[in-house]
Amino acid sequence: MAGVNPYIKAAKTELPVKKFTITFNIEETKEVKVFEVDPAKLPYGRTGLEGSILDIAYGANVEIDHSCGGVCACATCHVQITKGLESCNKATEDEEDMLDTARGLTTESRLGCQCVPNGTQDVVVTIPAWNKNMVKEGH
Ligand code: FES
Repeated sequence: MAGVNPYIKAAKTELPVKKFTITFNIEETKEVKVFEVDPAKLPYGRTGLEGSILDIAYGANVEIDHSCGGVCACATCHVQITKGLESCNKATEDEEDMLDTARGLTTESRLGCQCVPNGTQDVVVTIPAWNKNMVKEGH
């Protein structure tokens, strides 16, 4: 089972029932990766909520930092959902509080480990480069 933080209110998520596509824009490498999400294969990994952007990134072989192990306690998994945000679960207060600690917030910002698309739309995700650098340089 994917990681869950027992100390926070559970996010209300809706898992997809049909295949959909996530496009990852990786700012650090300027790579674009398109991945087809297959609901039958969820969860792809053990970090983040089942079906979250972080979970799907694992399946797509896309690296997103996740210092706390995907339990809504670090904000290093900050991503921006530039398309399909309406198809994702609403951020909980705990997610919003944690997001407030991330740099470069936009209205499209979410925690990758807490954001679960329901598959009714294709999704486009930007992974900011500075997030990785911040962790690598130990700031
Ligand atoms: S991995 Fe720590 S908040 Fe998402």
